[in-house]
Amino acid sequence: KIMHRIKGISNLEEALTNLLKVDKILIVPGNSDDNNLTLKDMGKVASMTLRKLIKEGSIIGVTGGTTMAHVAEEMPLGKVANDVLVIPARGGLGKEVETQSNSIAAKLAKKLDANYKLLHVPDNVDKVTLNAILNVPDVKEIIELIRDMDILIFGIGRADVMAKRRQLSKEKIDDIINKGAVAEAFGHYFNIEGKEVWESLTVGISLDTFQKIDNVIGVAGGEEKAEAIMAIASLRKNMTIITDEGAAKKIIKIA
Ligand code: F6P
Repeated sequence: KIMHRIKGISNLEEALTNLLKVDKILIVPGNSDDNNLTLKDMGKVASMTLRKLIKEGSIIGVTGGTTMAHVAEEMPLGKVANDVLVIPARGGLGKEVETQSNSIAAKLAKKLDANYKLLHVPDNVDKVTLNAILNVPDVKEIIELIRDMDILIFGIGRADVMAKRRQLSKEKIDDIINKGAVAEAFGHYFNIEGKEVWESLTVGISLDTFQKIDNVIGVAGGEEKAEAIMAIASLRKNMTIITDEGAAKKIIKIA
């Protein structure tokens, strides 16, 4: 029965890879919408995938969210290479310290016996404040490092859920949704075709930088995120997506 299950998952991986046309898709059994263990399993697979890519001098960018918190949590202890640096790919979001990209970067760095740098910038600041922040030397330094990242590991969210979590105004949320936004990743909102609809006002990775990074790994599961994952998968072919059975089956059903 277990062999049957494994065969099922690898068939599903093949079907989804062909459908989404990205280089690599890894699927864990279950649906993380209703099972925390599935989230944990995605974290394990993602952390091992990340470990394999780390080389001497690697700069690893990470984002926040519950999924990414599990990636840091599941990362086994132990150094992979010298001079590895972990940084947040994007300015912080809100209140829950555990799920902020800064905390995740620090935790991952500790697990990997690597260095880290933090980015202290809130989400949703006005343009004037943002420009002032961009001139702070510490912030400038991180922005340059973000441009030099060679690995990005990031969470993927639903546009509606993320807009609310970031406490955008009702008007802004309606505007983004009316423009067809279904996905959010690293502060950018996208429609189902992967076209950018809006970027939140904070500092961090640009779409242009995203396209140039050698290795990108997106991690997201749960049926609810099916469309969001489809949108992000269309951003570039050279990408690894780690997801779960719930999301995979839903994507195949609606595609
Ligand atoms: O806020 C950081 C972030 O990585 C977003 O870019 C993404 O949409 C979201 O978190 C995913 O969060 P979760 O894993 O909690 O669904």
